[in-house]
Amino acid sequence: MNIRSFLTLSRRGLLRLPAVAALPPALLHPDPLPPDPASFNFPPGFAFGVSTSAYQIEGAVREDGRGDSIWDEFCHNPCRVKGGQNANIAAGHYHHMPEDVALIADAGLRNYRFSVSWPRLFPDGGSRPNPKGFAFYDRLLDALLTKGVTPWLTLYHWDLPQALQAKGGWTSRDTAVRLAEFAYLTSRALGDRVPNWLVMNETAVHAYIGHCLGYHAPGLTGQDNWFAALHHLNLGQGMAIEALRASGAKGRIGTVAACEPIRPSSPALEDAQAAERFDAAWNGAVLEPLFFGSYPELIAADIAPHVRSGDAGIMAQPIDMLGINYYSRLNIAHNPAYPLSAYFGANPRRSPYFAGGWPIEPDGLYEILTRIQHRYSPREMFISENGFATVGTDTSGAPLDDVARISYIAQHLRFLRRAMDSGANVSGYFVWSLLDSFEWNDGMKWHFGLVAVDPVTLERIPKRSCHWYGALACAHEAMRI
Ligand code: FCB
Repeated sequence: MNIRSFLTLSRRGLLRLPAVAALPPALLHPDPLPPDPASFNFPPGFAFGVSTSAYQIEGAVREDGRGDSIWDEFCHNPCRVKGGQNANIAAGHYHHMPEDVALIADAGLRNYRFSVSWPRLFPDGGSRPNPKGFAFYDRLLDALLTKGVTPWLTLYHWDLPQALQAKGGWTSRDTAVRLAEFAYLTSRALGDRVPNWLVMNETAVHAYIGHCLGYHAPGLTGQDNWFAALHHLNLGQGMAIEALRASGAKGRIGTVAACEPIRPSSPALEDAQAAERFDAAWNGAVLEPLFFGSYPELIAADIAPHVRSGDAGIMAQPIDMLGINYYSRLNIAHNPAYPLSAYFGANPRRSPYFAGGWPIEPDGLYEILTRIQHRYSPREMFISENGFATVGTDTSGAPLDDVARISYIAQHLRFLRRAMDSGANVSGYFVWSLLDSFEWNDGMKWHFGLVAVDPVTLERIPKRSCHWYGALACAHEAMRI
């Protein structure tokens, strides 16, 4: 089950900052027609891009010396992923890379966020490199730069080498050191062409869904695994940022967090308290260590057994930019069957939904951006992921004539623009995703791509949203000149 399948079921939230009620309700209504791409007034230099991740698109899991990742192991257990699917082929990007880069450039998009596969670069999770793996990312970086597309490289998007999982994975402190080593060596090899480094993708999701609920790889459960993973991911992030600096990386250095306003499922006091605890573990436990070196009071005692002296200073790193992944709010209810007695619950608001049961709440983006700006004043923020899914089996024509996706993007861009007007320092927006791809434990069921990928032939077909979003980026590019 995809984490956000739960969102249908989830206030108080992060930091009790400005209420959203003052915003005009008209902004919450979907656009009847695709709006004029030139009508969005983002400042010169604002980066429009698309995001992907290695495991979700590359395929070729057993080719050219790649090692297994925790996701290979997880997929090959037939009960874990919907329909027993795996990412052995995924979107076939490993073999279609030049075509995919051309799709980005031809659409008029000038920014691409992707991740490198750790087990493709270092198959056993140690310092022994796989030359063919490095050759692939060499070609990718060269292709992007030749086409005028700026690379935004994510180091870790959940695909830990299985060899490291065998030694405890993120429940072991040593994995943090291995991440730093991976960052250092990757930077030494590719760093001359990487203007933007992003260390992590969504620590909160990886720690909770993969190490507490067990719905994602590596499939661990329980609060202890959750908090051990959470702390070691935070520590690894800090060590990797230090390692990137030590490597002489010239690019800017940042990271990506899943930031979602948390609200209680009902007005009941126990739901409000559960939502506060969950907020501390979801948003607070990632952002507070990064910006202040500490954990929120509500969970600090639970996490303390994993923390050693000196960790605070490693976790709190100055960063050049913070990537925010936003899809919707999380609704939380009191539920004693789960750690922290908190779990996903009913949505107290009548929001429209898209495939997978994700509520469409673009005002939540305004809410989270203004809160983060107020509390942490990051040097720069960008939206590293935001996107809309259709169901893979939909044959209505909607998958290609995807006005609903255009409307979703347009609504989020409007609230993003509003957050900027209210002082949020945001410099870019990336749609999830370039391609229809492997959606983790939902397999190939949800299609997030601006470009459809035929599951048999792997033919790429740009959807209407791809043309519209590209036109929007071009209109802004033109304003710059
Ligand atoms: C995010 C993940 C990304 C993708 C989207 C839909 O949580 O970072 O890989 O699966 O959700």
